[in-house]
Amino acid sequence: MKRRRPLIAIDGPSGVGKSTVAMALADKLGFRYINTGAMYRALALAADEAGVDVADNDALKRFCASVKMGFDSTKGALIINGKDFSADVKTQKAGRLASVLSANPSIRELLVSFQRSLGKDGSIVMEGRDIGTVVFPDAELKIFLDASHEVRAERRHLELKGERETRADVSAEIKERDRRDTERKESPLKMAEDAVRIDTSELGIIDVVEKALDCARKAGLVDK
Ligand code: DC
Repeated sequence: MKRRRPLIAIDGPSGVGKSTVAMALADKLGFRYINTGAMYRALALAADEAGVDVADNDALKRFCASVKMGFDSTKGALIINGKDFSADVKTQKAGRLASVLSANPSIRELLVSFQRSLGKDGSIVMEGRDIGTVVFPDAELKIFLDASHEVRAERRHLELKGERETRADVSAEIKERDRRDTERKESPLKMAEDAVRIDTSELGIIDVVEKALDCARKAGLVDK
């Protein structure tokens, strides 16, 4: 069924600045912002808390069957069996667990269908890895953000400064997440053929948001 209002998909690898850009774009357009990475992180924390090994496919399948999900739209948080994990979703632990859990087909099926139901009315900027390719291949605008490995590692390192990770550790971790994201069988990270690619390596946040807004104007999604 056709959406009445548009949906903007923002995809790209770890540490590229998707959240900052997607949030700013949603704010400028008066759209809702939905972060699907935070959903994989929350579900990974919930599985871990339930004693489920995030690398065990059968255990994850059973876990999915037992999970009840809701969405707190004020906070933009996935609520799992009544619990809000948003205080911890940004930690390295959540990122590490999510990177493994997100390769599981039952988990992807569960979250993709949940994301489709959240996005069905449009006026949304949704960020992730597979939004333009799998979740909403009919999105009115698809933006793929990219940046060099070094720049992404540096940005992530700054973001994690409270967690005492060395730059070399963060760099190695980003490399490993890129490998998992691009090589997994289920919905690997790749740019949709009709996406606009923005390389953010040499750009500041204001410039990237301006470029994204420009794409939205060209797609006829903004009147100003
Ligand atoms: O964007 P992020 O770092 O918060 O994402 C956490 C993990 O979830 C990352 O390893 C990739 C995965 N992910 C995914 O597979 N599909 C999405 N749409 C979003 C995130």
